[in-house]
Amino acid sequence: MMIEFILNDKIIKTEANSSMTLVDFIRENRNLKGTKIVCREGDCSACTVMVGTLSSDQNSVKYQTITSCISPLANAKGKHVVTVEGLNLSNKLNQVQQSLKDNYASQCGFCTPGFVVAMANYCLNDKVETEQQMLDAISGNICRCTGYVAIINAAKELVENCKEQGNKYTLEQLIAYDFIPAYFSKIKKSLKSIHSEHQASGKKIIAGGTDLYVQQADILLQTQNLRYITLEQGQPIVIQGDTCSISGLATVTDLFDNQELQKSIPHLQDFLRLLSSEPIRNMATVAGNFVNASPIGDMSAFFLALDTTLLIADKDDSRQVKLKDFFLDYKKINLKDNESIAKLWFKLPTKNIQFNFEKVSKRKHLDIATANTAIHIEVKDNRVISCDLSVGGVSAIPKYLNKTGEFLIGKTISNDTINQAIEVMNSEISPISDVRGTAEYKRLLANQLVKAHFIKLFPNHIKFEEVA
Ligand SMILES: Cc1cc2nc3c(=O)[nH]c(=O)nc-3n(C[C@H](O)[C@H](O)[C@H](O)COP(=O)(O)OP(=O)(O)OC[C@H]3O[C@@H](n4cnc5c(N)ncnc54)[C@H](O)[C@@H]3O)c2cc1C
Ligand code: FES
Ligand code: FES
Repeated sequence: MMIEFILNDKIIKTEANSSMTLVDFIRENRNLKGTKIVCREGDCSACTVMVGTLSSDQNSVKYQTITSCISPLANAKGKHVVTVEGLNLSNKLNQVQQSLKDNYASQCGFCTPGFVVAMANYCLNDKVETEQQMLDAISGNICRCTGYVAIINAAKELVENCKEQGNKYTLEQLIAYDFIPAYFSKIKKSLKSIHSEHQASGKKIIAGGTDLYVQQADILLQTQNLRYITLEQGQPIVIQGDTCSISGLATVTDLFDNQELQKSIPHLQDFLRLLSSEPIRNMATVAGNFVNASPIGDMSAFFLALDTTLLIADKDDSRQVKLKDFFLDYKKINLKDNESIAKLWFKLPTKNIQFNFEKVSKRKHLDIATANTAIHIEVKDNRVISCDLSVGGVSAIPKYLNKTGEFLIGKTISNDTINQAIEVMNSEISPISDVRGTAEYKRLLANQLVKAHFIKLFPNHIKFEEVA
């Protein structure tokens, strides 16, 4: 298949194997060796590149970072891919490079291209300019020798340097003040002229590739009949009345950035920050997380508690399945070979309904869960009206706790109720020992995390000292 995209300042048309990783194309086919490879699993961000997508009104180009080691070349189609070389000015360091240099933030230099690209992307994107946003931007970048103090100092300096009177610089200002090279001003026009549609045929779906490329990159290289589903930015998340519906193509970042959703789920960004790093969230789709069917999938636990419904479609037909009926057994799901998840929807938490998500992993960030759980609970006059509770990592599937939820209905929120509910939960889960912990440890975690929901959501009724 012909893939057309812009790589730095050049239009590329290639018939190279569309399932090869973008990093291999960049390094081997184009001989651009600035983009480094360390883990090839999306874990270190040494291979970070920026991907610019034309907005649907064709008025702007939005840039996001991705880890190119687990992204198929096909997903570059119709985009502007920027490597560290594509940020170079002709006769001096750009502002990002200068800031890292001034703060002595590079030692062996192997991680530095990834940091340069991630920080430049922060300067280019139109999100509110806060230190937290910058920390999110570099949240996936691992440095093995400098230590992070110098790097964070450089990052903080950039947060101040790329804005004027509180507003981030425009593209023109970023060019004028040496953040990015001048060719960026022509990219919007060039993107309009190149071919970006994906073939909708093929059997095996590849969305973000963040699961598939970690597990099967070599196999995918030999596989025919792949179906790349278009990943555009800002996939539809539509809120109508109390229902939120989300496209099957939506990424975790689409959720993270959605302001309406943030209003209904106030700690949404804190919850989603626990899912890997910004570049992974930019690629990872919610549907991909369900279909991967990992018992510790964070999106699975999250959406189970929202009592989500899926629209599953093949080319002729569609059907609805509750997410709690989607997971059948370990890695077995209610999805046929020719079907895909087209859409999902759920009722938004409203006045008396609260939502919380908890996750424990070996380290707080950039790690998959040992156990995770979410709750969606309606309480009136301290009495439970309805409760959807999920837990991951303690069964063969991401588990919707039917009995525990039912037990809670009609009960008052108290220490006794929680302890009894935990007993019911213990009869519903069946943790096993593995590298992430023993069965006993996981059971204990699940118990403590359920308590954490109630301590957080009902601080007037449940006190940490009394139930912990
Ligand atoms: C470094 C790293 C860290 C990670 N951290 C976390 C974490 O903290 N928590 C977590 O839960 N996960 C984590 N993941 C896993 C992964 O990012 C998620 O599972 C992600 O949501 C998968 O989505 P994707 O679009 O990349 O899926 P892909 O890899 O493209 O596809 C995964 C599976 O879903 C199928 N598929 C994709 N879309 C559809 C669709 N619409 N309909 C039908 N089938 C479809 C594919 O055919 C494939 O079988 C991490 C991954 C990496 C690489
Ligand atoms: S090489 Fe480590 S994330 Fe790509
Ligand atoms: S400077 Fe050596 S890994 Fe970061």
